[in-house]
Amino acid sequence: MKIAIGCDHGGFGVKNDVVELLQSMGHGVSDHGCDSGQSVNYPDYAKIVCLDVENGTADRGILICGTGIGMSMAANRSKSIRAALCHELFTAAMSREHNDANVLCLGARVVGPGLILEIVRTWMNTEFAGGRHQTRIEMFSNAIG
Ligand code: RB5
Repeated sequence: MKIAIGCDHGGFGVKNDVVELLQSMGHGVSDHGCDSGQSVNYPDYAKIVCLDVENGTADRGILICGTGIGMSMAANRSKSIRAALCHELFTAAMSREHNDANVLCLGARVVGPGLILEIVRTWMNTEFAGGRHQTRIEMFSNAIG
């Protein structure tokens, strides 16, 4: 699978470990930065990664900031993005199985590096169940407004 990844300064410390894990699992990774702990604006990185997913350059995206909250808010502005903020393994699995999440958001100030890697492994390895769940995600475009 092709994975686009991005982070802000809050997520920079763990991003390379996530990239290495994805590569060890056989995935191709497009790393969109950031590339240091210097303060940056997370919406810039959410936008770049989500554009890759929207236009098919990437199959899925992973976004890491301090809490994961800002990244998930920014990513979900796009109609074709289903971004899930996951802090543990159950929601990581369910976001794929029931919600077909195509972007995973992580909070590096909330979850330690070991658990982040397990969340990524679980999220990458869980398939969408389809069926009634497909019907429900097709309702998203009409959900609000
Ligand atoms: C940056 O300080 C922090 O606000 C950001 O990483 C993230 O937690 C936002 O939701």
